Amino acid sequence: MEYLSNKSSVARMDKNLGKISPFELKNRLIEMADESVKKMAHVMLNAGRGNPNWIATEAREAFFALGGFGIEECRRVMDMPEGIAGIPQKTGIAQRFEEYLKKHEGNAGTDLLKRTYNYMLMEHAADPDELVHEWTESIVGDQYPMPDRILKYTEILVQDYLNQEMCNGQPPQGKFDLFATEGGTAGMCYVFDSLEENFLLHKGDSVALMVPIFTPYIEIPELTRYDYDVLNIPANTLNEEGLHTWQYKVEDINKLRDTKYKALFIVNPSNPPSYQLSKECVDALKDVVTRWNPNLMIITDDVYGTFVPGFRSLMADLPQNTICVYSFSKYFGATGWRLAVIALHEKNVFDRMIANLPRKRKSELAKR
Ligand SMILES: Cc1ncc(COP(=O)(O)O)c(C=O)c1O
Repeated sequence: MEYLSNKSSVARMDKNLGKISPFELKNRLIEMADESVKKMAHVMLNAGRGNPNWIATEAREAFFALGGFGIEECRRVMDMPEGIAGIPQKTGIAQRFEEYLKKHEGNAGTDLLKRTYNYMLMEHAADPDELVHEWTESIVGDQYPMPDRILKYTEILVQDYLNQEMCNGQPPQGKFDLFATEGGTAGMCYVFDSLEENFLLHKGDSVALMVPIFTPYIEIPELTRYDYDVLNIPANTLNEEGLHTWQYKVEDINKLRDTKYKALFIVNPSNPPSYQLSKECVDALKDVVTRWNPNLMIITDDVYGTFVPGFRSLMADLPQNTICVYSFSKYFGATGWRLAVIALHEKNVFDRMIANLPRKRKSELAKR
């Protein structure tokens, strides 16, 4: 801290800090903090990419119980003393799974497995052998996932989960197609790349960011291959007492009426402020899309949505214009597992714009 009181050092530090990324800056500030406040500084400054300090137990217990079944299934086929077994076989697997559940009744995880199995059979008329075989191969991890976009029954379950958690149980008509990704951060990279590769965004295009925002959304548009012209829409509203309400001014949202703005990136609920987008802001965005800028592409990162009771994502309110990035990292305390999905409604402006690309562009896409 003494360092900070020396003016020339501060000037030097200022110059150097301007050159590093926000994540590096956060680490540098933590390093500089006095020992006594280091722990607190870590908590405060690490708000950029918070790692939960808890885990959700039940989902893990079911996961590990399924693992036990998976190993039994493999050993049933072949069991060599060297530690090599066969791969799960579909025929009769559902019956063996039901017997396994009975045998392990009362054990950790068994009940959730049983309820999920019954749910898939009753609500989605899943084929029992196909379902249990998919689960078993997934937990054992012996196959490249097919389809590689996302597994059949996994998609159905996660669709229901997102309808409940991101759409407050009232999803729009139609369904969301899901793309499994190795975490939300990878999801973001895929979104930026796909928009560019499919000629929906071009180097130098105008895009908007609702700020403050998770730092990769600031850094990625600055990369030379994108170099977007960025409009920041600040969360700078104040209440009557002059306190922050962390919402956006309607007059700022209305700037998106200009069709030069191709895309809008938002984290909702926001990070770091942790506020969900107000109804007034959602209504303003709906008006922008409905009456002024119908092809606006909205990318909403809703990884904190599950922490807000009754949360409703823009994917629910503006489904045709919105790509949602959802990650299991936060709610399940599972940052190490790298589990996320990108959701896109089956009827969407992205596909429509691709369909309207010039023939040359479309034939370039068809070649891939
Ligand atoms: C808004 C936001 N999106 C995504 C992530 C990262 O998610 P993942 O662990 O799935 O990469 C974070 C992590 O802090 C975040 O704050």
